[in-house]
Amino acid sequence: MKEQLQALQQEALAALDQADNLKSLQDVRVRILGKKGALTDIMKGMRDLSPEERPIVGALVNQLKDDFETSFSARQQELQQRAIAARLASETLDVTLPGRRRVTGSLHPVTLVADEIVEIFSRLGFSVAEGPEIEQDFYNFEALNIPKDHPARDMQDTFYISEDLVLRTHTSPVQIRTMLKHDPPIRIIAPGTVYRRDSDLTHSPMFHQIEGFLVDHKVTFGDLKGILTHFLNEFFGTGLEVRFRPSFFPFTEPSAEVDIACVICGGSGCRVCGRTGWLEILGCGMIDPAVFDSVNYDPEQYSGFAFGMGLERIAMLKYGVNDLRLFFENDLRFLKQF
Ligand code: FA5
Ligand code: MG
Repeated sequence: MKEQLQALQQEALAALDQADNLKSLQDVRVRILGKKGALTDIMKGMRDLSPEERPIVGALVNQLKDDFETSFSARQQELQQRAIAARLASETLDVTLPGRRRVTGSLHPVTLVADEIVEIFSRLGFSVAEGPEIEQDFYNFEALNIPKDHPARDMQDTFYISEDLVLRTHTSPVQIRTMLKHDPPIRIIAPGTVYRRDSDLTHSPMFHQIEGFLVDHKVTFGDLKGILTHFLNEFFGTGLEVRFRPSFFPFTEPSAEVDIACVICGGSGCRVCGRTGWLEILGCGMIDPAVFDSVNYDPEQYSGFAFGMGLERIAMLKYGVNDLRLFFENDLRFLKQF
């Protein structure tokens, strides 16, 4: 038996040496020490030994097991190290490669313009209000003195969602929503997205407006003119040529439109200003008593003014852009310039 055990020990150590991965190493262990392994086989012969021989052989068996375990863990560690080294080698990072530059975005010119306008009016004590883009006919038209089937509806080509719901055609419905909720005095500036069936150099089906309105005792057209002139000078710089031109809106009386000298051609006439030398940037006027009626304000006690301007139009003028559609094409070469 001694010889058998010695032979087994030799075989086991050789097998451990040969195992070249962790899996075959485990296989060796099972083959030698497992329940059905070689050692178990040999130990079946213990029965035939004399009582004196048994402890000696028993000690040999234990010695063999100890030796095997020691060699096994040594080999196991070696193979584990090798596996780690191989993995490290295959996953190497080249830390000297140049990094990928992260692209930083910038605010859209229309957003920049809206922020700046809000900022200027905030300094005059106006606060910001907003309203929904899908609007009820009542707020977009009726309460603004534009009854159903009235020809005044032709001024704004409208996307109807249903008989009573429209994509708002202007930010003026925010006037109604605000006045129904609050009593005067009020000073509001309301930026937002609006929609119309329009499309050319200076018109887009989706565009942005900023509404402003103020209601208090004894507000006059002079206040309106003063505030708008102040605003235009703050925004475009002093010396800008501005004209107030009589106009009509169902929700203001009297009404005006404000033009500024075309910044593309300097007033001599071009495609952008339709050869007139002037660009319309906003509509305004004194809030019509009929509007006060629909929000239960007393027109005898209060008066107010309102104005609404197109943000793309203003951005075109501010940045000298000659086609409004550039704002919506999202071409980064264009957008990066602001
Ligand atoms: C209005 O929308 C009125 N709600 C403005 C108003 C408010 C008047 C308060 C009185 C009191 P108008 O339809 O003119 O008015 O539009 C106002 C501005 O929006 C125009 O001066 C123009 O700058 C801009 N605008 C109008 N249609 C378009 C369009 N399709 N694309 C881009 N800008 C437009
Ligand atoms: Mg107009």
